[in-house]
Amino acid sequence: ADVPAEIAETADFVVVANRLPVDKETLPDGTVRWKRSPGGLVTALEPILRSRTGAWVGWSGVPDSADNPVVDGLQLVSVPLSAQEINEYYEGFSNATLWPLYHDVLVKPEYHREWWNAYVEVNRRFAEAASEIASHGAMVWIQDYQLQLVPKMLRMLRPDLRIGFFLHIPFPPVELFMQLPWRTEIVEGLLGADLIGFHLPGGAQNFLYLARRLAGQATSKGTVGVRAKFGVVQVGFRHVRVGAFPISIDSGALDAISKSKKIRDRAAELRRELGNPRTIMLGVDRLDYTKGIDVRLKALSELLAEGRVDPRETVMIQLATPSRERVDSYIRMRAGIEQLVGNINGTHGEVAHQVVQYLHRPVDRDELIAFFVAADVMLVTPLRDGMNLVAKEYVACRSDLGGALVLSEFTGAAAELRSAYQANPYDLDGVKDAIVSAVSQTPDEGRRRMRALRRQVLAHDVSRWAQSFLDTLATVNETTTSENRG
Ligand code: ADP
Ligand code: F6P
Repeated sequence: ADVPAEIAETADFVVVANRLPVDKETLPDGTVRWKRSPGGLVTALEPILRSRTGAWVGWSGVPDSADNPVVDGLQLVSVPLSAQEINEYYEGFSNATLWPLYHDVLVKPEYHREWWNAYVEVNRRFAEAASEIASHGAMVWIQDYQLQLVPKMLRMLRPDLRIGFFLHIPFPPVELFMQLPWRTEIVEGLLGADLIGFHLPGGAQNFLYLARRLAGQATSKGTVGVRAKFGVVQVGFRHVRVGAFPISIDSGALDAISKSKKIRDRAAELRRELGNPRTIMLGVDRLDYTKGIDVRLKALSELLAEGRVDPRETVMIQLATPSRERVDSYIRMRAGIEQLVGNINGTHGEVAHQVVQYLHRPVDRDELIAFFVAADVMLVTPLRDGMNLVAKEYVACRSDLGGALVLSEFTGAAAELRSAYQANPYDLDGVKDAIVSAVSQTPDEGRRRMRALRRQVLAHDVSRWAQSFLDTLATVNETTTSENRG
């Protein structure tokens, strides 16, 4: 990447992520539009960047684009990727090797040396772009599994920087991580950071063990806490801190928007459009095999067949954002989900009343909030998920203390949202029982649970997440960093 001279070394705070917060879209008449890109990472980091001045280094979502626009006051720095790099680094190594490996090998990870070579090359390009935009002594925050080599590469280019890394997906059990032919390079890449953050203490603990075993570094032995009691890896003269920082959402903003008359009216209108069913169930996900969309559809199908859910009084809405559409496992999974939807509607629907309403497209923010307000039961059933922000968004939108959350135990959010109806997504009977409990809860029980959930989500919002990470990063290696700064 070649950062133009007028913005070189100007940013005191730099976010480096695979994707820019907006995707580039070229309309048929040739005009360019930037539209919000998918996923939880952007949801979380966007409000943080709006409250600071800084730069965001990332890919624009299309091949070979090198634009560096300022969008909503934020300096964007594009790392151009060729079509072949998108195929090998993004669809290949990131999403057909690391993604399934880090999510319990739900799909078999593929190990290809060409993909690895592309990953190394693209990580080098991200590191170069970050080093060109960062001012002397700046704070650089690298994000997620696509960029695990960047911390070490950037440190070699710019020892004056303070470097943080946060992993937005689960860090896997040691036995699974050991499959990776390039396991040592990944661990050493991460150890280039001053602070490495995970959602949960378990992930931090797994990483500490691997730093000892694969990189041969001395590590602390105590257990890691949440936003406290950090682990330490000694790398030469540097201390690398390792911690757990569960990510969150802009809960206050969602709470406020969801109370507005416009949203309330739209929620009521949605219910009418659906024919005033007694129960609206809702699922909101990127269309990803980790999300357990099939689990909730199978549970619903059996509940309908057993007569425990009445098809005339129930609607399930599944909103699914298209994701990674050229990766084989995603193509197969989409076909499976659409077959299940067709099956349920064919068996239990009427011409004027479909039981499952399925949209394969993103919906805009206000419309999504209206769906949350309208839904009696929110279904969050991933087989594995680093956090799951959707669960927290639903809770933040329920100031009326209505609604019920069915939540998989295998999400990061389950550690915090203890008052949800939790279930093991591999135990279909358990999922069905959780759904029935949520559908038939008394208003008192529902209010009690929602009050407890909201206390958690409103007190632990995304600014607290970022603040706790960045405050910790600001104090690591105080002496070594200032020596390098000269
Ligand atoms: P992931 O990062 O794996 O996509 P999260 O649940 O953490 O999962 O975050 C997903 C984000 O994308 C949330 O902010 C959610 O509201 C948004 N989102 C997911 N599906 C849709 C959809 N169909 N339409 C609009 N936004 C969506
Ligand atoms: O953390 C989840 C995550 O993979 C982000 O890194 C990513 O930006 C988002 O989900 C959406 O996925 P993608 O960028 O592959 O469309």
